[in-house]
Amino acid sequence: SPLLTTACLGRTVFSYEVTDSTNRRAREEADRGAPHGSVFFAEEQTGGRGRLGRAWSAPRGEGVWMSVLLRPKLAPADIAQITLLTGLAVCDAIREVTGLPVQIKWPNDIVLDGKKLVGILTEMAAEEDRICALVVGIGVNVNNPAFPEELKDKATSLLLATGKPVSRKELAARILLRLEKEYETFLRQGANAAFRKRYAERCATIGSLVKVVMGNEEFAGTAIGISETGALLVQTGQGIRAVNSGEVSVRGM
Ligand code: BTN
Repeated sequence: SPLLTTACLGRTVFSYEVTDSTNRRAREEADRGAPHGSVFFAEEQTGGRGRLGRAWSAPRGEGVWMSVLLRPKLAPADIAQITLLTGLAVCDAIREVTGLPVQIKWPNDIVLDGKKLVGILTEMAAEEDRICALVVGIGVNVNNPAFPEELKDKATSLLLATGKPVSRKELAARILLRLEKEYETFLRQGANAAFRKRYAERCATIGSLVKVVMGNEEFAGTAIGISETGALLVQTGQGIRAVNSGEVSVRGM
């Protein structure tokens, strides 16, 4: 597409009218040797996957449903940072295209007025200690005219927020460009203080009271920042706890 100005991301594209999940397609093609930067788009997903084993609704033509295959030469411990930098890239791309003051809900949901606009699911395929493929799945509610009753208070779309349709192609191209830039910066500099500051500026969770649920354990505190490894730092009555994104649900209070 002429909209795409990236050097690498999206130079190889797989497009589907209907598929169960672009993350699933990306993992499959990764096994067959698809190159770093391959992007997988679907008009509709019939088995969209979310974090924590949840389903993700991806109706035909309504959103950007895409997955990006990255083959980073990084340690598994760096994956948390890629989760964060993807959230930041998507947040800034949406601001750029729509002007909406969208924010990140840690680790990488994008929200507007407490309602979810974007979900991101990062999945990896590791080979011994070395990561061979990382799939970053991004679901943006773009032109959804409405949501089912059970999602009405929790989800929104760019159409509902701005009152006009938004170009999915332009948005996808912007996201890929921002993601490529953030990724290259990360490879050069790591998640340094400047990155953590930019992330914190966009993150609605930091500075808020949160309830953390990790398996059977539950605690509350104030989110105060991001650690050098990408964990959320939560100030509790018993001191500071570092929360990793894997199996955790963090809710505002
Ligand atoms: C979440 O918020 O729980 C993450 C949702 C991720 C949805 C996207 S849509 C494209 C890609 N394919 C999937 O099956 N899931 C991700």
